[in-house]
Amino acid sequence: MKKIFVNGYGTIGSRIMAFIKDDPEITIIGIGKYSPDEKVEAAISQGLNVYVPEKKMDSFKDFKITGSIESALDDCDLVIDTAPEGHGYLNKKNLYEPKGIMAIYQGGETVYGEKAVSDLLFNSRVNYKEAFERKHVMQGSCNVTGMGRILQPLREKYGDRLVRFDVTLVRRWADIEQTDKKVTDSIEWSENSHHGDDIKSYMGKETPLFLRSIKVPTRQMHLHIMDIRFKDRSPKPSEILDIFKDEYGVATLWTANGTKDVRDFAITMGFSFTDTNMIHIHANMLESIEDTIKMMYSDDQTGIVIPENHMLMQAMLFQRSYEDALNHTEELFHMTEKKKALEEHFAKKN
Ligand SMILES: NC(=O)c1ccc[n+]([C@@H]2O[C@H](COP(=O)([O-])OP(=O)(O)OC[C@H]3O[C@@H](n4cnc5c(N)ncnc54)[C@H](OP(=O)(O)O)[C@@H]3O)[C@@H](O)[C@H]2O)c1
Repeated sequence: MKKIFVNGYGTIGSRIMAFIKDDPEITIIGIGKYSPDEKVEAAISQGLNVYVPEKKMDSFKDFKITGSIESALDDCDLVIDTAPEGHGYLNKKNLYEPKGIMAIYQGGETVYGEKAVSDLLFNSRVNYKEAFERKHVMQGSCNVTGMGRILQPLREKYGDRLVRFDVTLVRRWADIEQTDKKVTDSIEWSENSHHGDDIKSYMGKETPLFLRSIKVPTRQMHLHIMDIRFKDRSPKPSEILDIFKDEYGVATLWTANGTKDVRDFAITMGFSFTDTNMIHIHANMLESIEDTIKMMYSDDQTGIVIPENHMLMQAMLFQRSYEDALNHTEELFHMTEKKKALEEHFAKKN
């Protein structure tokens, strides 16, 4: 049985652990915590072993800590690192590489330059098999993951009829749980967002993708506004929707008015962490004009990368076929059921 350690127990780490602890094919060693706060007790009460950095042991003396992170890694097959941006790279250099352990890193890291954690940025829909027998792989960020689910099916269907993708990413300011983070009343832009380069790392660097990104004061998901240019006349919207009918992790919604509608439905349905774990094409906004398809889809920022981490873990540890891995991920995440519920609730009205 392969032994897994989740280093970090924040927004992403706690979600990953909540799902993979039910995977009968792996053994969970525990989680790594860095601050002695209420989340330590929460993890322990869920039956998890909590490990902390050797040099911080003293500050955790009020909690029932199992041991040091360094010792937990002595008998570990794979770490899912969920550290804050940039710390994954430091962990690779200081912990995982010296101990020869496989590791998955999250989207705040990079596959470029001196601080690259890997030369592979994973997107299960595009490059699943490339992760076989790799020791270090980066899972794309939420936006980067969501976009693969749109671009790859389009590329498979239309190939060189596609001449250009123009995308505006409308990003959330903070996550729902980040109650200490103020959501500022402003629209912000940033130069050189990592998203375009990250997407090109798995779609190919010649991909005609032009991307800009803004941040808006919401905690409720991201919205991607995408114009897809064709060499000739663009297909009808119904043909585009047909492509995504059976796509895993893509729901087609007609009557949502905004991202909060989708989140509220997830709350009503009792989805874990109020996540849908997918992207949602807003079909009522889909248009075909001359050579261009105009589309909008929302991307569940916190949930979308969680099943992807599980897919990546299976590729690295078991080199399982894509279909078998997807079936196993589905057993834990029930995405097909969630997609069906979302599509029925937001169905087209006559
Ligand atoms: N939030 C999202 O929606 C989202 C979506 C996709 C990808 N990501 C990526 O996922 C990664 C984690 O983001 P997050 O939102 O989960 O952050 P977060 O909520 O701030 O959680 C970070 C966790 O890492 C722990 N930590 C601190 N120093 C560490 C270290 N040196 N090594 C390992 N863990 C350490 C923190 O521990 P303490 O709390 O004990 O200090 C905390 O539990 C980032 O790369 C981010 O870009 C985030």
